[in-house]
Amino acid sequence: MENRQINFFKSKDFNTVLKPFKKGTVVKIDSLDIRENQNELKIGLFGWYAICPSTELNKNKLYYFSLYDEPLVLYRDENENIRCIKNICPHRGASFFGGTLSDGVITCPYHGAKFSSGGSCQNLDRITCSHIVDNNYDNYAKRIHLYQYKALEKNGYVFVYFSKKSETDLNNIREDSPISNYELSDNGFSHEDYVFEEVLVDFKCDWSRIIENHLDILHLFWVHGDTIPDKDVNKNVLVSFNQKINVTHKYIESIYYYKNDPTKEFIRIKYIPPGRILIYKGDPSLSRYLQVLDHIPLGDNKARVIVRHYRKFLKNKLLNNLMLFKENQRKIFYKIFDEDYMILKTQTFNHNMGFISKDEIKLLGEDRIINYFWKWYKKSEDKDEPWKNINNTQNLNVYDKVILKYPPEIKKLEIINNIDIVRKTFLRFAAPLIFFLLVI
Ligand code: FES
Ligand SMILES: [Fe+2]
Repeated sequence: MENRQINFFKSKDFNTVLKPFKKGTVVKIDSLDIRENQNELKIGLFGWYAICPSTELNKNKLYYFSLYDEPLVLYRDENENIRCIKNICPHRGASFFGGTLSDGVITCPYHGAKFSSGGSCQNLDRITCSHIVDNNYDNYAKRIHLYQYKALEKNGYVFVYFSKKSETDLNNIREDSPISNYELSDNGFSHEDYVFEEVLVDFKCDWSRIIENHLDILHLFWVHGDTIPDKDVNKNVLVSFNQKINVTHKYIESIYYYKNDPTKEFIRIKYIPPGRILIYKGDPSLSRYLQVLDHIPLGDNKARVIVRHYRKFLKNKLLNNLMLFKENQRKIFYKIFDEDYMILKTQTFNHNMGFISKDEIKLLGEDRIINYFWKWYKKSEDKDEPWKNINNTQNLNVYDKVILKYPPEIKKLEIINNIDIVRKTFLRFAAPLIFFLLVI
């Protein structure tokens, strides 16, 4: 593996903030918190994003979402392949919301234009009066074509390669980073060895804030100490760690060892830009547990997180079902999201309002991976400008209701999960008992 350890400043207090206060504004970066090195993480925010679990895409269903506020649609074509198109009809710019999908043909709800899965319009005569456009008919016809991004299915996720430049011909899209960077097998895990449970939650807060939160182990003890079922993670426990950071072109990895037992690993966090974080312990091929966190920048102050926990133990289906393991685990996920949510929202607000100035933020020595992240983020934002031309009149964003799934403040999914737990507990334990009592 090509990597190296970074040597950090001795200072305990970096006294710096690298997050831009407002999208597009320039913020001074304190130089050299981390020494520059040859293996610096590749700069850029465009690349493959895991958008949703692939089970979300059913036959003939249009799945709405957005990336950096660009409205997009996912669906399966007639061959079950995943398609990602701009949610803008190339005829007169209507959304496909309210339109239909049938065997890979999508129909616009405004004038009924039908588009094949290749993207060409199938019924031009329906939307043109040929006597009006006679002279230019061929040119006109060519322009009526769906704009698309590359999309595929991998490890049970739907991935989209986003670059803000959708194309009518997918062959024109060049990938800067391969999908293999995100694959579990390329990261040393064989996912067949695991069972997993997952949740998908959309937050009304800044995307990069959530990544920061997931790179931050310090808050685990305090914010989630009562929720995480690990006796070492507790409000009243004070643990000191040695930290080692490896950087390659593809990822940055932070490994925490117990200070009082330097060979014993507490946890390692691997950030694979733009949106994936892996959390596990030790050698991936031996790790009993893997957490995969995907972060999706739906838009300005709108971000999605998909959390998947892979576990080697509890592969026994019967035991798993009896213990209602997935349902109970989901309950913990929701609680953790809730615990973070208010903090994330208020941080986002404080930054966007410019209330936090450089002097008021103090990253500590322990926050070095966060410091590295913000430095990388700023450079990446400057390079790709994904937020450019974003209209700040967010109250005009009609897509929110269509795309946002289970925002934590709406407890619907949590309630459904709780009802599920009660129902299944009754069926598994109480019902056979009642039956037995009735028989005797
Ligand atoms: S806007 Fe879609 S068919 Fe006219
Ligand atoms: Fe958290």
